[in-house]
Order: sequence, then structure tokens, then C-alpha cells
Amino acid sequence: MKRIGILTRDCAGINAAIRAVVRTACHHNIEVSGIRRGYEGLIGGEIINLDRLSVSGIINLGGTILKTVRSKKFQTQAGQEQAVKTIKENNINGMIVVGGNGSMAGAHILASKYNIPTIGIPATIDNDINGVDLSIGADTAVNVAVDALDKIRDTATSLERIFVVEVMGRDCGYIALQVALAGGCEEVLIPEKDFDKKMFCEKISAGNVRGKISWIVIVAEGKAKADDIAKIIIETTGLETRVVVLGYIQRGGAPTAVDRILAARLGSYAVEVLRRGETDKCVCLKDDRLDTVPLEIAIQPKQMEIEAYYRLIKILT
Ligand code: F6P
Repeated sequence: MKRIGILTRDCAGINAAIRAVVRTACHHNIEVSGIRRGYEGLIGGEIINLDRLSVSGIINLGGTILKTVRSKKFQTQAGQEQAVKTIKENNINGMIVVGGNGSMAGAHILASKYNIPTIGIPATIDNDINGVDLSIGADTAVNVAVDALDKIRDTATSLERIFVVEVMGRDCGYIALQVALAGGCEEVLIPEKDFDKKMFCEKISAGNVRGKISWIVIVAEGKAKADDIAKIIIETTGLETRVVVLGYIQRGGAPTAVDRILAARLGSYAVEVLRRGETDKCVCLKDDRLDTVPLEIAIQPKQMEIEAYYRLIKILT
């Protein structure tokens, strides 16, 4: 293998993964082409050379030095063929794709439909890649949200208010569940679990009668809008309720140590797996050991163990 191409989405820890890929490749005398702006840049031939020096000082940076956009063109046959042409014209022998399930689906297309040796590195705050315990970026997102929550709780407690806090995660309740547990929140609503409006409001009202004066309700963006949940609370309980939508702050910022270490291990391993001649796989950790999962499996909907979390939240709050 003489030259590897790398393209990414964006979240905290992706730059640390780029650094790990580039430096491991350099270690094996493999050249690296950085593809700017994701699949769109692959179609347009937006390629830069990456060497040891070009990835220095980025381990702690959020976002992606390669930049990224969502590509509609890559969803078309013509776009895919153009992307493959770029890969071949630039003598790229293997691709590494860093991102969430959309990126992994693209990587699977490159590998299975066009026979381009391709390895995925899971990186998404949603942590919704099937067969992968932890994706790069998810730990930072949870930490950012918990930090915000601690601050929100100061006001919730001091002013005896209910707060409905909306977190990201697309169709996955991972961030919401983690944040609810780490933030000591009273209630959490996620896409994977039915929402019993009546029980929810009765619980808040009963708590109020017992003298419970402040609540923090976490709602995953894929379940409902925080505004709508707040309206339900106000209409049925009359309690003073405020809304916070955390939004994109969860995706940015300096990666946590957990994300940097994960990025270092998975980034480096992705190069080793490509060198071994493997393709159409996503690297991951299993029981803290480096492993792979077929991309075909990684892009299926992820099953999360949610009942244990709910039980624990109920016991602890
Ligand atoms: O997949 C990561 C994510 O941040 C989701 O949590 C969120 O729903 C989505 O991306 C937002 O997408 P966009 O950046 O296109 O607004």
C-alpha cells in the first residue's frame, strides 16, 4: 500500500484520529491524501497531502481540519463514479472514512460496490453505529452537556423551576441517557422508549405535592422538541418551566482524554487493518481490545440496552 486517502465528518476527536492515521501511515512509509469537504471533495478532487508536520498541534482541536459538508451528489451513481475516478487518478490504494452512519454507508458503497479497499472509523456524537460500543466524539458531547446541566441545575434549584433540556443524538437516545444519569436528572425521554404523557405529568405533580421543587427533564432531539414537552408540563401542572436547547455546543470543543485516546487507537488501527488487506470494515474496541465490525452490520440500526438505565435513574432520583 503506497497511498491512503482520508475523509471525515466533524465532531470532537476527529482531528486526533486524522493525526493518528497520518503518523501511523508515515511510520510505514505510506503517503496520505487528505480529502477536503468529505464525499463532496472526493467527487471534486479536493485533495491535499498530509505529512507528519501537517498534523502537529491538532490533537486538542475540535471539528475537522479537512472540513466537511453533507454530499447529495455522492448519493447518485454519477457522483459515486466520479469519486472512484478521483481515487484512481490520485493513485490512492485504500480509503479511511471517519464519521457517523452516513459516512459508514458511503464507505460500504466504496468497498462493496466499487472494490476500493475501505476502512471506517466510528466518529459521531450520536454513538449510533451498530456493533460499536463507543464512537469518537460521544464522550466529549456527554461531558459538554453535563457541564451545561450542572450550571442549569443551579438556577433550577435556586428558583424552584422545572427545566426541560434538549440534547442532540438524532434518532438515538444515547446522549440523553448518559447525561440524565451523570447529571442526576429526574426524567429522560428518548426515541427508543414510549412516552406516557399522563404518567409523566402525574409524576411531576406528585413530586410537587411531596415538596419536590425543581426538576430537570432531558429530552433527546429525536423524541420531541423541548418546547412541546414544556408546554405539556405547564398546561397539566401549572409549574414554572423553562427550556434549554443545547444544540451544536455538544459537537464542538476540545476532545476529552477518552476521545483522544480512542481516536489514537482506532486511527492507528485503521491503517494496520488496511495494510493487512482487509476492507469493508469499521474499527472498534471490544472489551478494550482493537477489533472490527463489517460495515454492512455497522450501518444497521443500533440496539441499546435502555431498561437498565431507566431502572437506575428511577432508583437514584
Ligand atoms: O449526527 C450528528 C448530529 O450532530 C446529530 O446529533 C444532529 O441531529 C445532526 O448531526 C445535525 O446535523 P446537521 O449538522 O446537518 O445540522
